[in-house]
Amino acid sequence: MGSDSLTIVDNRTGQKYEIPIVDGTIRAIDLRAIKKDKEDFGLLTYDPALLNTATARSAITFLDGEKGILRYRGYPIEQLAAHSTFMETAYLLIFGQLPTATQLEKWEWDISHHTLLHTNAQKLIESFRHSAHPMSVFIGAISALGSLYPDARDTACVECRLLQAQRIIAKVATIGAFTYRLNQGWPMNYPDDELGYVGNYLRMMFRMTEHKYVPNPVLERAINVLFILHADHEQNCSTSTMRVIGSSQADPYSALAGAAAALYGPLHGGANEAVLLMLEQIGSVRNVPGFIDKVKKGEAKLMGFGHRVYKNFDPRGQIIKKMAHEVFEVTGASPLQDIALELERIALHDDYFVSRKLYPNVDFYSGLIYQAMNLPTNIFTVMFAIPRSVGWIAQWMEMMREDDLKIVRPRQIYVGEGARDYVPIESRKA
Ligand code: CMC
Repeated sequence: MGSDSLTIVDNRTGQKYEIPIVDGTIRAIDLRAIKKDKEDFGLLTYDPALLNTATARSAITFLDGEKGILRYRGYPIEQLAAHSTFMETAYLLIFGQLPTATQLEKWEWDISHHTLLHTNAQKLIESFRHSAHPMSVFIGAISALGSLYPDARDTACVECRLLQAQRIIAKVATIGAFTYRLNQGWPMNYPDDELGYVGNYLRMMFRMTEHKYVPNPVLERAINVLFILHADHEQNCSTSTMRVIGSSQADPYSALAGAAAALYGPLHGGANEAVLLMLEQIGSVRNVPGFIDKVKKGEAKLMGFGHRVYKNFDPRGQIIKKMAHEVFEVTGASPLQDIALELERIALHDDYFVSRKLYPNVDFYSGLIYQAMNLPTNIFTVMFAIPRSVGWIAQWMEMMREDDLKIVRPRQIYVGEGARDYVPIESRKA
C-alpha cells in the first residue's frame, strides 16, 4: 500500500495491518479486521461525545477552529455578513451556489408563499400555557407540522424534499414569532409577503395596532446578519441530531423537532439565554471578580465562553461584537453591557481561561443585542433556531442524496453484569 496508509501492529497477536488514510481519516470499520482470534468481534473505536470522529462527508460548511475560519460553500462568513442577506445565504446553503437575481427573486417568492401557518398548528401553539418556554412551543409546533404534511414522509422524493425545505424555512419564522406573542399574551400577526423574510419576521413579532408596520432598517439588517451567522455550523450537536433522526428516514419535521430539542440545551443554543441569566445574576461590575473566582473553583460556568471546535476565537462573535454598536445607537445600550465587557476583559487575560483556550463565542454577544431590542431572554434560543433550521434542512437534504445512506447505529462497550438467572421475588435479598 502507498504512503497514505496507517500500519498497525496488534501486539496481542503480532499481526500487522495496513489501513488506508483518505482525507486525513481512517474508516473505523477497517479496524474491524483486527481480531485477537477468529471468534473475536474485531476492534472498535471508543469515542464518547464524538470528540475525534467524522460522521459525515459534507460540502456545506468549512470550519477551521484553530485559525477561526468559517465558510459557507467556500464563501468566508465575514463577506457573507457584510454583503449578503439571510435569504440569499439560505439559497447558497441549500443549493450550493449564490443565486442569480432571477433565482433569488423566485426563491424569496417561494419562501414568502409558505409563511402562513395552518390554523391547527396555530391552535396548537395557542393551547400552550402562556408562560411555556418558547423553545418547548417551537419544538412542539415543528413536530406537529409533520402531521399536516403527510407528503413529507416520502423522503425518497426529491421534489418533495425541496418543498418541505421551503415550508420549513418559511414557517419557522412564523412559529418563532407566535411563540413570542403567546408569551406576551398578544394576538398573532399574520405574515405580510410585501416585506422581506426578516422584515416580515419583525412585523410578526412587534406589530401592535398600527396598520402598516415599517421595520427599522438598522435592526432589520442586524437580524439579517445574526441569522446569516447562525445559519449553519457543520456537525454540531443539533445538526448531528438532525442527521441521526433523518437516517431512519423519518420525515424532516420530526427530525427538525429533534434538532431543535438538542439546540435548546444551555451548552448549545440555549447558551445565549444562559449568558443573560448569568449577567443578571452577577448584577454589577463590582461582583465580576467574585464570579470569576467561582468559575475557577469549578462552582460556576462562564456561559458564552468556550467552544468544542474554536480554540482561538469565534469569528461569528467578532462580527456580532462590531455590529452591536450600530444596534445600540438605535436601541440604547444593553444595561448588562458593562458587566459583559468586564467579564470579557478579565477572562481574556486570566491564565485559567487563556490556558484552556476559552474565548467568547457567538452566544456571548448575541443576547446583549436581543436584550437591547427589548426581547425577553427566553426567546433568544428561538432566534437561533429560526436561522439554524436552514442549516439543518440543508444538511438533511445533502444526507438524503447519499447513495449508501444507512441508519445511524453506534456501538457500545457493555460494562454491566454477565449472564445470570432470574431470581423469584420471594428469594431476593434486600
Ligand atoms: N467556563 C468555565 N470553564 C470552562 C468553560 C466555561 N464556559 N468551558 C470549558 N471550560 C473548562 C472545562 O471545565 C475544562 O476544564 P478542565 O480541563 O480543568 O477540566 C476545559 O475548559 C475544557 O472544557 P471541555 O468541557 O472539555 O470543553 P468541551 O469542548 O467539551 O465543551 C462547551 C465546549 C461549549 C460545551 C463548553 O465550553 C461550555 O460549556 N461553554 C459554555 C456554554 C456555551 O457557551 N455554549 C455555546 C457554544 S457556541 C454556540 C453553539 O454552537 O452551540
